[in-house]
Amino acid sequence: MKEQLLALQKACLDAIKKADSSNALQEIEVKYLGRKGELTAILRGVKDLPDAQKPIVGKLSNEVKTVLEEALENKSKELEKEELNKQLQDDTFDITIPGPDRSLGHVHPLSQVQHQVEKIFNSMGFMIMDGPEVESEYYNFEGLNIPAWHPARDMQDTFFIKGKHDKKHGRMVLRTHTSPVQVRTMEKYGAPLRVIVPGRTFRYEATDASHDTTFYQVEGFMIDKNISIAHLKGVLAQFLSSLFGKEVTVRIRPGYFPFVEPGLEVDFSCLICGGKGCRVCKYTGWVEFMGAGMIHENVLKAGGIDPKKWQGWAFGFGLTRLVMMRHGIDDIRLLLGGDLRFINQF
Ligand code: DAH
Repeated sequence: MKEQLLALQKACLDAIKKADSSNALQEIEVKYLGRKGELTAILRGVKDLPDAQKPIVGKLSNEVKTVLEEALENKSKELEKEELNKQLQDDTFDITIPGPDRSLGHVHPLSQVQHQVEKIFNSMGFMIMDGPEVESEYYNFEGLNIPAWHPARDMQDTFFIKGKHDKKHGRMVLRTHTSPVQVRTMEKYGAPLRVIVPGRTFRYEATDASHDTTFYQVEGFMIDKNISIAHLKGVLAQFLSSLFGKEVTVRIRPGYFPFVEPGLEVDFSCLICGGKGCRVCKYTGWVEFMGAGMIHENVLKAGGIDPKKWQGWAFGFGLTRLVMMRHGIDDIRLLLGGDLRFINQF
């Protein structure tokens, strides 16, 4: 039995040595180690041997099996390498042909400007906050001093979420502005604060060249001791000149927003038409840039901040509009329209 096994091992090893292709090697494996293979047959027969021989033959057969398996494995790797080399030699391969062109994506113009805005405000010590896009009626309105009965609710046409109701905070809406993050941040961190909140907002609007149902805003606010509109003017002047890299004319008018007192409108000269009048500036030469004002004491109170000790200002502007100004885009619908011929220009 022993001789038979050793002879089988030798025959198999010889055959492996001579094999000149993966296919030939596979045949050898089947012949010896396959289900009906020669060694397999011997291993199966071990159980019928006399007891004294069982362990000896069993052990030897297993050793032979290991030897053969290793030899097959090594030869298989060797053949694979050879076959690959041969294939490389056979194929004419021109290394000077340029590889396939992979087109790289890039940052959307809205995000590009958002990052720029974040960087400028960051450098002035403002932190960047985020808030939910599906917001409670409380944070979107009541917390900002806009009760349900208030006519100012009509300033922002709102998408209400059907069937969703927060027990504590009322109905749910798609946030109409990023201002709700004011109260959320005050609750979370208390005063003092310097914050900007860039984010996506939604209004139930008829779309045209300057209105879309989805757009981006940046809310900003500062709360500290002895803060005045002078600080707001300073911060805005610094922000706009950093952003545009040149002096931009700004004008401040009185305005009304329920969450500030006094309230302001901040405009700047239209960069598209240079003040002559165009579609974007509605032929006025001025772009309504942002609302602003001193934070109403009811808002500070909603955020758990004592208005006798602290005060501050807030502003909110359309990031989308700013991007349009930056790049001379005269139709807001292009920005989220998904047309690559447009988007790839930035
Ligand atoms: N949330 C206002 C809007 O979307 C913009 C705004 C106006 C924000 C005045 C402010 C502010 O913080 O003081 O129309």
